[in-house]
Amino acid sequence: MADQYAQSSEDKRPTEIPVLRWEEPPEGPVLVLLDQTRLPGEEVELVCTDAPALVEAIRSLAVRGAPLLGIAGAYGVALAAARGFDVEEAARALEGARPTAVNLSVGVGRAEAAYRTALASTGDPTVAATAALTAARTLHREDAEASARMAAHGLALLDELLPGGGQRILTHCNSGSLVSGGEGTAFAVALAVHREGRLRRLWVDETRPLLQGARLTAYEAARHGMAYTLLTDNAAGSLFAAGDVDAVLIGADRIAADGSVANKVGSYPLAVLARYHHVPFIVVAPVTTVDPQTPDGASIEVEQRPGYEVTEVTAPQVSVTGAGGGIPVAPLGTQAYNPAFDVTPPELVTAIVTEEGAVSPVTTEALAELCARSRQA
Ligand code: MRU
Repeated sequence: MADQYAQSSEDKRPTEIPVLRWEEPPEGPVLVLLDQTRLPGEEVELVCTDAPALVEAIRSLAVRGAPLLGIAGAYGVALAAARGFDVEEAARALEGARPTAVNLSVGVGRAEAAYRTALASTGDPTVAATAALTAARTLHREDAEASARMAAHGLALLDELLPGGGQRILTHCNSGSLVSGGEGTAFAVALAVHREGRLRRLWVDETRPLLQGARLTAYEAARHGMAYTLLTDNAAGSLFAAGDVDAVLIGADRIAADGSVANKVGSYPLAVLARYHHVPFIVVAPVTTVDPQTPDGASIEVEQRPGYEVTEVTAPQVSVTGAGGGIPVAPLGTQAYNPAFDVTPPELVTAIVTEEGAVSPVTTEALAELCARSRQA
């Protein structure tokens, strides 16, 4: 089937997407973010001069996706330090901005620890602020490197699981350059398959209610000239039934010690579908997403978002009428269930691919061994 679903035009823009950068104008340091709520219609930048502005950008999903949240959080601590604000207060506000992606508290924690250590040894807040910035830049660089290594490991795993021929990959939410210091997690693997000339189709789930698939993954796939097709989330079942999916690739916001995977809501139903149809369900995430402190899936805090994201179309381009600033698509006063994430149990996950290699089958012991190896590296 496939080709009648191809997108028609080739995107000619550069493939590199400037997602986040640190700048030091004369008025003082700032963190500049690409506002992801405005994509794909507009490429608008948000300039954060303090941690509260960054907290708001995180809550509104202007900056989002697990690895990027970690990087942004680390720069947020550096920003507070460089501008002489209360670092402790900034760090607590930043790590509490969204609860599910563990990378956010990892990133904040790294920059805060660097700040504290430097302050304790020198007593000089300027030196400590520089240490926090160096920690943020290091995390940023490490994430880019991890991205490239995950892509290589994921490509090798797919070759092993699906030898020969082209691959039709289904993905959910957004896990490319927009969430990373590099080319991302799951999306980076699909991109590597594309560069090898073996991507027959990238099936892109639209990802209700905030459309990270339609707005962001399709935007990235178009820029790379990938053969992609958008589908509504509830069309995935018929696609599996037709035999048109060879593998599912998703990212993760937190992986518990037992291998339970929290990712964008709608991931778990895909895992169930994949198991029923004997299709590999592969999670791609940096080791920083594995949280040994969270024992199992039930212990993962799943963010609940406002109901208006479901009862209204909240794209900023549309005219404003509803309580959430969008056009109502349900009767006024309708209650909505709007968890941002769901949890897939480890027995439904074929493999977890990290920069340190793939874990399959997914067990507590194998994940612990992977984390230990990563600490030694
Ligand atoms: O609510 P979001 O857009 O931040 O959710 C993002 C996801 O669920 C991604 O799939 C996840 O962060 C993994 S991306 C590496």
